[in-house]
Amino acid sequence: MILEGLVTTRNPDGSVNVAPQGPITSAALTTLTFRPFPESNTYANLQRERRGVFHLVDDVLLLAQTALDLPHPPPSTEPAARIDGQVLRDCCRWCEFVIERIDLTGERPVFEARVVHRGWRRDHCGFNRARHAVIEATIAASRLAWLGRDEVLAEIARCRAPVLKTGDEREQEALRLVEEFVQSRVPPP
Ligand SMILES: Cc1cc2nc3c(=O)[nH]c(=O)nc-3n(C[C@H](O)[C@H](O)[C@H](O)COP(=O)(O)O)c2cc1C
Repeated sequence: MILEGLVTTRNPDGSVNVAPQGPITSAALTTLTFRPFPESNTYANLQRERRGVFHLVDDVLLLAQTALDLPHPPPSTEPAARIDGQVLRDCCRWCEFVIERIDLTGERPVFEARVVHRGWRRDHCGFNRARHAVIEATIAASRLAWLGRDEVLAEIARCRAPVLKTGDEREQEALRLVEEFVQSRVPPP
């Protein structure tokens, strides 16, 4: 299965890069197969450093902000236990990993990672339709260049009802920012 979460990697200047990624994994979380886009910081950082931290989170506002490169306060981190990396203080679980194999021959780059340490901070709150809807809207917005304005705005419109019915302020704020991002990028026809 694919699990959506946040990856921290180290930028060339030493700062922490935070980006959503959906690695292929299993519930045991022993391996993670990342497929980062070649234009992304995560791709460059993983190729150079060959390590990072994957986090299972329940805060979709940070997920939307980092996916779309929107301004946000840098999340608080602390040193990882087994690798030279940084762990988000606000997460549910995390996996420290090392990259063991990189395959750049296919349609998408494949980075295979072995998890060397797993940690737990708190339980995941449970299924919430608003949070899932924000994830769908954010993924669509992050593919704006391929999908086009109409398709992305239609996806955001589909996501609005579950966010309004079942979300909190953070989910509503996240969907608002995602829509604002799309509106600001592509002028109306
Ligand atoms: C839930 C979610 C999952 C994502 N999964 C991936 C992924 O597997 N690979 C990828 O390249 N981008 C993925 N993205 C898009 C990246 O997060 C986005 O392009 C981001 O700007 C990359 O940041 P970076 O340049 O700092 O690495 C995902 C976005 C979301 C919202």
